[in-house]
Amino acid sequence: MNNDLLWVEKYRPKKISDVVGNELAKTTFVNWLTNKRRRKKAVLLYGPAGVGKTAMVNAASNQFNFTIIEMNASDTRTEKAINKVGKPATSFVALDTFTANTKGNILFLDEVDGVFGQQDRGGIKAIINIVKESLIPVVMAANNTDIKKLRPLKKVCQMIRFHPVRIPLIIITLQKICALENIKAEFEALERIAQNSRGDMRSAINDLQSSSEGKAVLTVQDTMFLSLRSKDIGMYETLMGVFSAQSVGEAAMILNRSNVNYDDFMLSISDNLPLRYPDPEDLAKAYDFVSRADLFRGRVGTENWRLLKYFFNYIAEAGTVSPESFKPFEVIFPPMRIMKLFWTKGKRTKLNNICAKIARNCHVSQTTAKTDIVPFLKIILEKQKTSQIPSWLKLEPEEVDYLKAMNNI
Ligand SMILES: Nc1ncnc2c1ncn2[C@@H]1O[C@H](COP(=O)(O)OP(=O)(O)O)[C@@H](O)[C@H]1O
Ligand SMILES: [Mg+2]
Repeated sequence: MNNDLLWVEKYRPKKISDVVGNELAKTTFVNWLTNKRRRKKAVLLYGPAGVGKTAMVNAASNQFNFTIIEMNASDTRTEKAINKVGKPATSFVALDTFTANTKGNILFLDEVDGVFGQQDRGGIKAIINIVKESLIPVVMAANNTDIKKLRPLKKVCQMIRFHPVRIPLIIITLQKICALENIKAEFEALERIAQNSRGDMRSAINDLQSSSEGKAVLTVQDTMFLSLRSKDIGMYETLMGVFSAQSVGEAAMILNRSNVNYDDFMLSISDNLPLRYPDPEDLAKAYDFVSRADLFRGRVGTENWRLLKYFFNYIAEAGTVSPESFKPFEVIFPPMRIMKLFWTKGKRTKLNNICAKIARNCHVSQTTAKTDIVPFLKIILEKQKTSQIPSWLKLEPEEVDYLKAMNNI
């Protein structure tokens, strides 16, 4: 098997049924293609990129034995160039129809929106002329959903609309490819790739290939870098993205696109550095960068946004001290410092309970118990191994331990 082959080429649809989704568009196109008495001589397939427009035309002509005379309008933007390819194509007509192997020719003008908005306004006029003069059916495709721009073509052709491919269908397609490539993929990994593609099958397949090539197992973590493209990047993705980035620039770009709260992110990245850098020297460097970032974070405040890039840059440096040493790991978050606050809250509750017991038995307020009695009680408990006081105060053994261990009140 040729490993250099792009999977989008390798798994290019061979027949109509291999083209996933857009059922209505497919049926409409096949009906048009196979019907001798076409209502319109031309069709325009339009919709977002990577959903199978070009693939469908090729698959259908393959399946129904049409010969495609292709012309990519983006490559030939001027009227002259369009005519050069288009004219002869339209005029060498239907002779081929009589040969046994083919049902006939179709002229395929792919990516016709390449000619829109060009300085030479002749482009689209030339296309319309080709459609008018052509003796063979014309198929056009446009990566455009803006119907206004396509309006001039609307008069001369039947419009067939393509939608983004639905996410579950993309997942199924990715699963099939994984099976053929002998890759065991976590469902969540494929789901993430599919969602990230926003219905663009081509980029989903490309992302699958780039995140799993050479691997026998594809995990969610292997797909973390994809969030680069996504617009809402949360804490988890930002952390993974920054840690797995191959360069400072890449890490900074992730931060730039992330929606995380910067203070939370500072805490989280600090917590995760020891997991990321097993080498103490790397770790020290990383902490140094975080402390510099922290400095800038302070200066950025709420208004000096132009300083934010320095903050990003130092954080990015912290995440990419040694990109080559990156190994996937379970990131910790929420930040430990926030968890610590919960923990100290637990401790505070413990002290309050002790003070309440003292207050009840000594007939003082809890505050007095805390300030006047607890410090002495602590010393007594430390010195006297067999004091009766704890049982008199009804203190639990942990509470006694707590008082003994307590260092500042
Ligand atoms: N609906 C689909 N079903 C299966 N494969 C698809 C589909 N859409 C795109 N692909 C894959 O992506 C590649 C590029 O798709 P293409 O047809 O060129 O997209 P478009 O012309 O809509 O921009 C195809 O060769 C195929 O491998
Ligand atoms: Mg295309």
